[in-house]
Amino acid sequence: MKRIGVLTSGGDSPGMNAAIRAVVRKGIYHNLEVYGIYQGYQGLINGNIEKLEIGSVGDIIQRGGTFLRSARCPEFVTKEGQQKGYEQLKKFGIDGLVVIGGDGSYRGANAISKLGIPCIGVPGTIDNDIVGTDFTIGFDTAVNTAIDVIDKIRDTASSHERTFVIEVMGRNAGDIALWAGLSGGAETILIPEEPQQMDEVIEKLNRGKDRGKKHSIIVVAEGVTNGVKFAEELERRTQLEIRVSVLGHMQRGGSPTATDRVLASRLGAYAVELLLEGKSGRAVGIMNNELVSHALDEILDAPHTIDKKIYQLSQELSI
Ligand code: F6P
Repeated sequence: MKRIGVLTSGGDSPGMNAAIRAVVRKGIYHNLEVYGIYQGYQGLINGNIEKLEIGSVGDIIQRGGTFLRSARCPEFVTKEGQQKGYEQLKKFGIDGLVVIGGDGSYRGANAISKLGIPCIGVPGTIDNDIVGTDFTIGFDTAVNTAIDVIDKIRDTASSHERTFVIEVMGRNAGDIALWAGLSGGAETILIPEEPQQMDEVIEKLNRGKDRGKKHSIIVVAEGVTNGVKFAEELERRTQLEIRVSVLGHMQRGGSPTATDRVLASRLGAYAVELLLEGKSGRAVGIMNNELVSHALDEILDAPHTIDKKIYQLSQELSI
């Protein structure tokens, strides 16, 4: 292996830059040439590719977003799109690829591997919904962003004796809601993996009110329901004064936490090691603080699960 490529794809996440930096520097450390592919799979199809040097990734470890930029690329879901990407890699003489992204990005990486160019996936998404790793790059930062907001909202909720519904990201996964809800001391956490009826939510609010509780925070994952609609129904069915906050894309930005920077550095470098060992069609991850890798074929169709013990704890601490 002489020349490798790196791209970021799908929704960006804080720490992607640190992962790119690790891929580039680890590659150069091992005498590889490293090429950056801009704008995800779209840029790959278009041949938007250039050589990166040690200095190309200077001063980025602390930055949110991804300097390679990212895109959601429907064309790359098709066989024709994948073939075009493969041909561009051949044209640039790239004989190994690191793809940093989520589930959709992994599917593209698997396709390229099967066409004959070794690919390794690195889990980069705030949702933490990738199988085969305890944590994804960007999740810790997103949770910290969310609790910063929850703490602030708690101040005003308490002054005005209000109930707040806070909608956080997580298209199909409740991890951000669960971790932000637990660490932000939310009274109720609604996640897609553990459905709850509106009646249960109301019952809990009433129990709190009877104990003299003056304000409440409800954290809801976007994958469960729309926070505004949920709050309207809750207000209609209770006499409570409710306000809503939808955190949205602010959760995707910001300087990555130390945890995300270290995770990204370890995973990016490990992906290069696997390419050097001749591995292909695998995704790296971290489990019990050990670097691991799994076949993309194995993890792509496996269902994501939340940590049940953490969910149970959140329930016990918010009775
Ligand atoms: O996958 C990460 C994520 O931020 C999800 O939490 C969210 O549902 C989605 O991306 C939003 O995607 P877009 O930025 O394309 O609207």
